[in-house]
Amino acid sequence: MLEKQLIRGTFVEAEASGRLSIRESSYLLLEDGRAAGFFKTIPERLRTAKLTDFGDALIIPSFSDVHLHAPQFSMLGLGFNLQLLDWLNTYTFPSEARFCDEGFAREVYSRFAAELIKNGTTRVCAFSSIHVPATKILMEELTKAGVTGYVGKVNMDRNSIPELQEETEKSAEDTERWIEDCLSAGYSVAPVITPRFIPSCTPRLLEALGKLADKYKLPIQSHLSENTDEINWVRELEPDCARYWEAYAKYGLWNDRTVMAHCVHSDAEEREAMKTSGVLAAHCPGSNMNIASGYMPVRQFLRNGINVALASDIAGGSTVSMMNCMVLALQASRLHWTQNGKEDGFLTLGEALWLATSSSDRFFGKKSGFSEQTPFSALVLDDSALPPSANRLSAEERLERIIWTESTETIKACFSDGKRLNL
Ligand code: GUN
Ligand code: FE
Repeated sequence: MLEKQLIRGTFVEAEASGRLSIRESSYLLLEDGRAAGFFKTIPERLRTAKLTDFGDALIIPSFSDVHLHAPQFSMLGLGFNLQLLDWLNTYTFPSEARFCDEGFAREVYSRFAAELIKNGTTRVCAFSSIHVPATKILMEELTKAGVTGYVGKVNMDRNSIPELQEETEKSAEDTERWIEDCLSAGYSVAPVITPRFIPSCTPRLLEALGKLADKYKLPIQSHLSENTDEINWVRELEPDCARYWEAYAKYGLWNDRTVMAHCVHSDAEEREAMKTSGVLAAHCPGSNMNIASGYMPVRQFLRNGINVALASDIAGGSTVSMMNCMVLALQASRLHWTQNGKEDGFLTLGEALWLATSSSDRFFGKKSGFSEQTPFSALVLDDSALPPSANRLSAEERLERIIWTESTETIKACFSDGKRLNL
């Protein structure tokens, strides 16, 4: 027997065009946690179904964060007077090295998982550190909290500090054993191949990782064209590659299962390669501003037909909040527009919501939001405690206000893959 449940509220979701689709005061039927149709009134046959009535609240798809570093949750807000390469050496690598300590990993990752849910993020594509035991602890804690998506054990065999550098063969072997272990572990998150970036991995390691990605048909995550010093360094390390992306493609790490973070300095050719191969660009506006990397012109990427989704990139970003990430994307886009000949228009709220929710569905291989037959993943937003407004607000205006004011406290319930989570 299917378990049938009705959820009542005003449902709002964003389409790729940025148009908001709004269903005022409606009922959504869930069958074993899967969306199975909207109704304006309860049909006779569902009179006896369990009803969860959220009254006047807004219900939106829960957030996805397509690029973040879980161990860097321990160093939020630190080192932003530095740029990428110095920031990595001074703060990031020493912080990640601490995750050889399983007790420390447990403490940080349980807090991290709870913080994601509190902020409405139920799906992630996350970097762990090089450590396999800590990576498994991260996967356990995300599973306990109800977070889905992908987690990667990071690979690094050059240009790091001694405490955070692997030996090439061992790095590849550990990674394959970890992938095998994940197959039977029952985690809610799946493994993703994670070469940190080209400067951190020798050609031999990159080649081994490309083979693993192909053998196990796994997604791939890394960094691309974030900072000009980084790009020049990659050119020295891979002199036969005219552009950064070619160094990933050369080793089988560039396909429609790949997500690349930043793409701030990607030129027209690199963007064309992203489009042709179906690579997802993770737009990380907070990080790009904090460590002075630059601006990824989102509107241009969208116009070029490239898949884009939003990401916090903590701890380049200073918070896991995707409401904050949307606001930063909206603000950065406005600034870019005014300073660059007012071309392409600037990002709209509906586009930002789409980038934070459904635009990554294909990458995760699962529809989000309220699509039929899809496990329900959603946030219930109760704005009744926000300041009274002079005029009656429409559903769109209410959502606009919640996001622009980053009112995370309005999240009163969170569903992930059909289950209601504890907040
Ligand atoms: N490039 C390589 N590693 C990192 C990292 O941890 N954060 C950011 N923002 N860029 C990187
Ligand atoms: Fe990153």
